[in-house]
Amino acid sequence: MDIGQYEKEIKNASSLEKLNDLEIKFLGRNGLINDFLKKIKDIPNEEKKEYGQKVNQLKKDVLRLIESRRKELSGKKSDKFFDETLPGKQYPKGSLHIVSFAVEEITKIFEKIGFIRVSYPEVDWEYGAFESLNMPSGHPARDDVETSFIDAPANLKLGKMVLTPHTSNGQNREMKRVKTPPIRMINISKCYRPNWDATHTPMFHQFEGMCIDKNISIIHLKGTLDYFAEKYFGKGTKTRLRPHHFQFTEPSFEVDVTCTVCRGTAKVNGNKCKVCKSGWLELGGTGMVHPNVLKEGGIDPNKYSGWAFGFGIERVIMMKYGLDDIRNYYSGDIRFLEQF
Ligand code: PHE
Repeated sequence: MDIGQYEKEIKNASSLEKLNDLEIKFLGRNGLINDFLKKIKDIPNEEKKEYGQKVNQLKKDVLRLIESRRKELSGKKSDKFFDETLPGKQYPKGSLHIVSFAVEEITKIFEKIGFIRVSYPEVDWEYGAFESLNMPSGHPARDDVETSFIDAPANLKLGKMVLTPHTSNGQNREMKRVKTPPIRMINISKCYRPNWDATHTPMFHQFEGMCIDKNISIIHLKGTLDYFAEKYFGKGTKTRLRPHHFQFTEPSFEVDVTCTVCRGTAKVNGNKCKVCKSGWLELGGTGMVHPNVLKEGGIDPNKYSGWAFGFGIERVIMMKYGLDDIRNYYSGDIRFLEQF
C-alpha cells in the first residue's frame, strides 16, 4: 500500500486519456484499491480498523494526485499553432424579406396617424370581392379584376369562393366589424391575379386604407396621401389625383407620386428620365367610398362619408428603390434579397 508506486504512474501519465485509464485501474469498482477493501475479511479483527483507515487514506491520496495531474494536463497548451488574435467566425445573419420589411414600414406610417392594421381572409366569397363593392354579378367591371376561383361548392348567398384579387374585400368586413364610425383601417394582405411579367406576379400584396367619419372629404384623402408619400418615398415627394373609374368609389382617381429618380423634373442630366418620362409614377387607385358600399356595410351615407385607396406593396418597393423586375422578389435568389 505504498503511495510511491501510484504517484509515479500518475505523474507519468502523458495525456488526459491515459490518466482516465489510471483512475479506473486504481479507483474503479474492480480497481486495485477496492481489491484491498475486499480483502478486509481475511484480516484479524483487532487489525481491521487500522487496515481500513490505511486503505481510505490511500484512496484519498490517489484521488488528490489524479486531480492535480488532471489540472496540469488540461492547462497544457496544445502543440498545434493557434492564433488567439484571429477574429471569431462570423455566422451569416438573416434579415426580413423586402416585402415583410415594407409591410412593417407601411404599418408604422399609418399607425402614427391613428389607423388600425387589420387582416382579412385571403380566400373570400365573391360577395366580399365584388357584390359588397357595388359590382353585382354579371357586371362587366368584374372582368377588369381578373380573378382565380376556388374549386369548391358555392355559397347560395355569398357566391363562389375566390382568391382575393384586391384588399378591397376588407371594406365591407371592416364596416361590419366597427359598426359605428370613425373607421381608420389599414388592411394589408396577399392578393392574387393570374399575371406573370416584369411588373406582375400571380401573388402580390396590397395595402388598403379606409377612413370613414362625419364630414370626411377629398381634402383628408389628399393630406393622407401626401403624408404617406413623404414618409415612405422621402421628403419633397408630391402626389396628384387623376380622374378614373372604380365601381366602389365616386368620384374615383388614380394617384401619382413624383418620380423618385428625377424628383418630378422628368429630366436626368439634361435627358428625359427613363423611369417615368413625365415626372410622375402611378401609385394606385383611390376615391370617395360609394354610397352603395357604405349602405351594404350598414353605414348611413347621409350621415357619414369616407375614402379608400388600394396600392400594391411590390409596386411601391419598386418605385422606392428603382427596381425593374418584381419577379426577383420571389425568385429566392439570395444575392438579390441580401441587398435590402
Ligand atoms: N381595389 C382597387 C385595385 O385593386 C384599388 C382601389 C382601392 C381603388 C380602394 C379605389 C379604392 O385596383
